Amino acid sequence: PAPGWTDTVDVVVIGSGIAGLTAALKARALGSVLVVTKDVVASGSTQWAQGGIAAALGPGDSPEDHLEDTLVAGAGLCDPAAVRALVTEGPDAVRELIDLGARFDTAAGGDLSLTREGGHHRNRIAHAGGDATGMEIERALVAAVKRADDIRIIEHALVLDLLRADDGAVAGVTLHVMGEGQLDGIGAIRSRVVILASGGLGQLYAATTNPSVSTGDGVALALRAGAKVRDLEFVQFHPTVLWLGKGAKGQQPLVSEAVRGEGAFLVDHDGNRFLQGQHELADLAPRDIVAKAIMRQMLATGKDHMLLDARHFGDELWRVRFPTILASCRSHGIDPVRELIPVAPACHYSSGGVWTDLDGQTSVPGLYACGEVACTGVHGANRLASNSLLEGLVFAGRIVTALANDGLPPLREPAVDSRVAGLVDADVVAELQRTMTVGAGVIRSATGLADAGERLGKLIEQPAGEPGTPHWEATNLATVASALVAAATEREESRGSHWREDHPDRDDTRWSGSVDLTLPADGT
Ligand code: SIN
Repeated sequence: PAPGWTDTVDVVVIGSGIAGLTAALKARALGSVLVVTKDVVASGSTQWAQGGIAAALGPGDSPEDHLEDTLVAGAGLCDPAAVRALVTEGPDAVRELIDLGARFDTAAGGDLSLTREGGHHRNRIAHAGGDATGMEIERALVAAVKRADDIRIIEHALVLDLLRADDGAVAGVTLHVMGEGQLDGIGAIRSRVVILASGGLGQLYAATTNPSVSTGDGVALALRAGAKVRDLEFVQFHPTVLWLGKGAKGQQPLVSEAVRGEGAFLVDHDGNRFLQGQHELADLAPRDIVAKAIMRQMLATGKDHMLLDARHFGDELWRVRFPTILASCRSHGIDPVRELIPVAPACHYSSGGVWTDLDGQTSVPGLYACGEVACTGVHGANRLASNSLLEGLVFAGRIVTALANDGLPPLREPAVDSRVAGLVDADVVAELQRTMTVGAGVIRSATGLADAGERLGKLIEQPAGEPGTPHWEATNLATVASALVAAATEREESRGSHWREDHPDRDDTRWSGSVDLTLPADGT
């Protein structure tokens, strides 16, 4: 459909989590800023982050140690320069967040209280409200954005596609606004740059920790605009997601790694601690190792979940340190003070995404990306726990610094609308999620991936009727699912969070580089 209205701004930010709001707050120095978000501004993945934000802030810690742990978790695929930027700029970025109003938990004496999570050799995870870190960070950022009356926000708006000039550079976006009065319906925003901060793609899978808005829109839009996408096969499955019984679907409650950081441990149904002896960090090994160990144990015993023991915390520690998880367990009839917590891995985080350089520039001039949607090179084959909030903060800042140094590009005349060719019916989403869970989930193989690819091909052929957000989201899910299956098929080895049972070993002779994907220019 043709845009019914047009508006103009210097910088469009897509997404309102830690990356998008940080970018918006800083980009005010460059010109006029508009934030477009699919739900209300405080929705999205950031608010669901429990464990915290990692940075070398504690005595005895250093960016060098943080770098080392990040590179080990990334299993040979991190870009060391990107990781160095993350860990050296991280501590100041967290202090800036505190200055902005985020209230982190402190220990006696007033220093930040720092905990540990999988893959970290030091206590370097700052947290807030016990286990409600994302909620507090989002609260502080939303409050700052609302105070900044020079940031415009459009809520309930799905960005459809990029507008581009004759030479392919960004000229703005098209979007579908749902119920915003004058700006209702399909419209176009012309802009000098677009900063993509639209989050993840967890809704590709039947069970995920991600909210319903995480439908891979940013990766799909970038692919349609011809942008390079990298490392898409590295989907992280969080090891300990509350198991809600067979057939549970959609967003599932997280049981933070910080619970293991405080001393909880995994056991099988006979009470055996199966992670001991598998890794020097045992229950606090990097999360791909813990997730695989749980899956192997589930397969070997025929059970659909394993158990987490944190009964020894007692009532007081549970209440003070993990109030969110305690409430969530109890609301599902489990009392973790007295009972073992049933857990299983579920889709949690996309380590890959839209490729960027160290300043967040994608391969499309004028299109920048930060946060989960981006692949900056800091995560490699497996993100280190609690590095994601930090990445959003640091790289949003780097984008704005680079734009301030180089100057904003001029406003371009839109010539190309990299519009979706055919819409996929929203009715196929449940089947798409099942297909991805079975064929491109924790355990993959050439046969399983081929079956998934074939099934996706059939689902994509089911055309939608009238355009509308559910069909656009289904189309984005289908685009990203196909790309992910292609990347996972190509990488014939096991590394980080990509586990191929037909190629069970890491193969540095063939696969020490990344899998990059681009769609043909016509977006098919
Ligand atoms: C958690 O709290 O376990 C999640 C932390 C993360 O995903 O980085």
